[in-house]
Amino acid sequence: MCDHGGRISRELSVYYAAMDPSTPFDSVPRRAGTDTYKWDYRPRNARGRDVLPMWVADMDFACPDPVIDALRRRVDHAVFGYTYASDAYRESFVSWQRRRHAWTVDPATLVFAPGVMPAVRSAIIGLTDPGDQVVIQPPVYYPFFDAIVDNGRTLVENPLVQVDGRYQMDLDHLESVISPRTRMLLLCSPHNPVGRVWTRAELERFADIAVRHDLIVVSDEIHADIRRAGVEFTPMVDVGPDIARRTIACHAPSKTFNIAGLPSAHVVIPDSQLRSRFERTLDRLGFGLASPLALVASRAAYDSCESWVDSLNGFFDAQFDRLVREAAALGVPIVRPEGTYLGWLDFRPIQKATGADDEATRRALFEEGGLWLSEGRQFGSQGSGFQRINIATSRALFDDAIGRLGQAVAALTATRDAGARQ
Ligand SMILES: Cc1ncc(COP(=O)(O)O)c(C=O)c1O
Repeated sequence: MCDHGGRISRELSVYYAAMDPSTPFDSVPRRAGTDTYKWDYRPRNARGRDVLPMWVADMDFACPDPVIDALRRRVDHAVFGYTYASDAYRESFVSWQRRRHAWTVDPATLVFAPGVMPAVRSAIIGLTDPGDQVVIQPPVYYPFFDAIVDNGRTLVENPLVQVDGRYQMDLDHLESVISPRTRMLLLCSPHNPVGRVWTRAELERFADIAVRHDLIVVSDEIHADIRRAGVEFTPMVDVGPDIARRTIACHAPSKTFNIAGLPSAHVVIPDSQLRSRFERTLDRLGFGLASPLALVASRAAYDSCESWVDSLNGFFDAQFDRLVREAAALGVPIVRPEGTYLGWLDFRPIQKATGADDEATRRALFEEGGLWLSEGRQFGSQGSGFQRINIATSRALFDDAIGRLGQAVAALTATRDAGARQ
């Protein structure tokens, strides 16, 4: 699908020339030509225009210098044999959690996995039986659906509800969908795509249900470190000993430090029996091996990049302020997310006013605006009327995205006006 042979288009290259160096996050390197999903796996639209990709959840920023330096040193060593997750590797993660979340992780409870989704899939395969029910809370990160269904488990939905515009877990409904075949709850915490960072009180109620019904909880905490100022993240394992005993908590440095292409995950499993079943499953699936570069990058990130993450979060705070303001002015409201670098744009008012459906909205964005977002309906039927935007890019490209959003909205409105005149 790569349509420009790795060359950045003339249209977009002007932004690189006009970079404002006042924040490190405006100096985005050219990524086209590095076989990235975001920039190289990108069709032109029907007008022959390069679309601006704001969908896949990685960042355009260079990852922090200490990570690059550590990788350089490792590459200079020039030998890349079989490697394993050492005690020092575990300690980097443990220390980060202590410093950032006041969470004490016992290093003996940590399991390496080559990514969060391999860990989630392994938990489903190894800790449930075919036909068992696994509950998710859509709209939610769409690979969760396939991870359950592909493995012959039964998908059960407990949709999030919006109360005064804010998404919440419907815990009464959760209790009502649990049956004797329910074995596992798959939690997204913080929640992609709606950006909620669940409070301790919410997690306590959720945990209480899991404990009373004897369910395993897989808590995907990959977005834990990207939060708006003043928002606190609560690790599920830290909610209490009863829930810790039944939790598989999945963390990774990939989102926070922009190293998704160097896959690694830290899976915290306090219960020794669950842990050994999980480890056996990883082995059975061939997920035992760790990339030496991924291990080195992860250690450097957790050891030396705290201030970089603080600056990054400050940058996102400001960008989300702008997005909320500018999207609302276009008639596309968005609730400022508490976590993640993903915005959940609400096209329902415009769809209602113009009669456009999801497909017409997608066409307006892609063909008229030249903007490629993640369609809300991918995240479950509850995502209909929404589009997810990834704002982890420079202000110049963000400005471009807002301009394109405006063009798409104008196209939707023009369709309605033309219809009204006929
Ligand atoms: C909630 C969530 N879980 C997992 C992943 C993917 O993790 P990994 O690349 O480590 O498999 C993502 C990536 O967007 C995500 O948003």
